[in-house]
Amino acid sequence: MSAVRNRIEIMHGVNLDQLGRRDPAHYGALTITELERSVSDAAAELGLETRFFQTNHEGEFVEHLHRLEGMADGIILNPGAWTHYSYAIRDALELTGLPAVEVHLSDVDSREPWRRESVIRELCVGRVAGKGVDGYREALEILARELEENA
Ligand code: DQA
Repeated sequence: MSAVRNRIEIMHGVNLDQLGRRDPAHYGALTITELERSVSDAAAELGLETRFFQTNHEGEFVEHLHRLEGMADGIILNPGAWTHYSYAIRDALELTGLPAVEVHLSDVDSREPWRRESVIRELCVGRVAGKGVDGYREALEILARELEENA
């Protein structure tokens, strides 16, 4: 029998600690603490365990990805603006070998053209954008299915 694989690492990048102060039309009104509570409750309903990480420093984000081996079974990541250009984060994500889902609170595809680019997209098993906090629930469901199918 294989061990339960249900540990989801939820990683937020640059400026996401400022939720609650950022434009609510794009990002909603929740603070990151409120968002994390809601995501953690949604995860518990799906039988998933969550751990949260946020940094404004790209190297710390990369090093956190390096440390995930054996610590997580899946990743939900919203790297903020790094999504659009950080090949360093892309390479570190690839190194984890873990199933990952890319999430954006705002509808990045209908904003400025530079936000349409994602350098991590092709490494992810799913992508959810423009659904606010509900997008994280959808990402959890995608990962739950993925982990079950590959159990
Ligand atoms: C974001 C979208 C990015 O373009 C932006 O730089 C962010 C947040 C989102 O959640 O919608 O900081 O990733």
